[in-house]
Amino acid sequence: MTQQGRFITLEGGEGVGKSTNLSFVRDYLHSRGIRVTTTREPGGTPVAERIRALLLANDEQEPLDDLAELLLIFAGRAQHLARVIRPALARGEWVVSDRFTDATFAYQGSARGIAPERIAMLEQFVQQGLAPDLTLWLDMPVSYAADRLAARGGERDRFERERGDFFERVRQGYRARAEQAPERMVAVDASQSLEQVQRDIAQRLDQQLASWN
Ligand code: TMP
Repeated sequence: MTQQGRFITLEGGEGVGKSTNLSFVRDYLHSRGIRVTTTREPGGTPVAERIRALLLANDEQEPLDDLAELLLIFAGRAQHLARVIRPALARGEWVVSDRFTDATFAYQGSARGIAPERIAMLEQFVQQGLAPDLTLWLDMPVSYAADRLAARGGERDRFERERGDFFERVRQGYRARAEQAPERMVAVDASQSLEQVQRDIAQRLDQQLASWN
């Protein structure tokens, strides 16, 4: 029987370097002989990417209701789980996702103000016990991340247009999640040099691989 793969997620606010570090994690696991599927949320399948577009669009005519936003996120997640995450894990591949449900607790819960119990209900309904085995939370002060985002330029999506205090609440939300599940979710100081961030990630992955073997 094929052994079930592991599920790793990367989390963090805007501009903390998730994409660069996602590639790093993928390459690192490859170098250890592990087959990896990389993906992202919102999105990860064609249908879920259409839901992502709805979530990120700046629609001046009709603001998206907070509850509708939450349900769209879980609708995309259900599709993503069914079409990508569960099949890959069942094939024995490891899945590395740029964001997952911790983001929902941080953004829709802590930042938008939806009660965490309601989110936990949907989490249970949609995921039925499936949760990440390891989450790397790339953490940095909101002001650093805002500078990086500004330097990147381009048009801002619906979330990136939020104000600084929104991102402070996102950060607090992630911190609370990490405190609740310290074995699974580890903070990585993303304000360090990229080399140091990646050394920290590699060290954590090594520890985790050793404990899983
Ligand atoms: P990205 O910046 O990682 O591409 O994600 C797009 C946005 O989606 C980001 O601003 C955070 C937001 N988001 C939520 O609000 N809740 C969620 O559950 C997820 C996965 C993302």
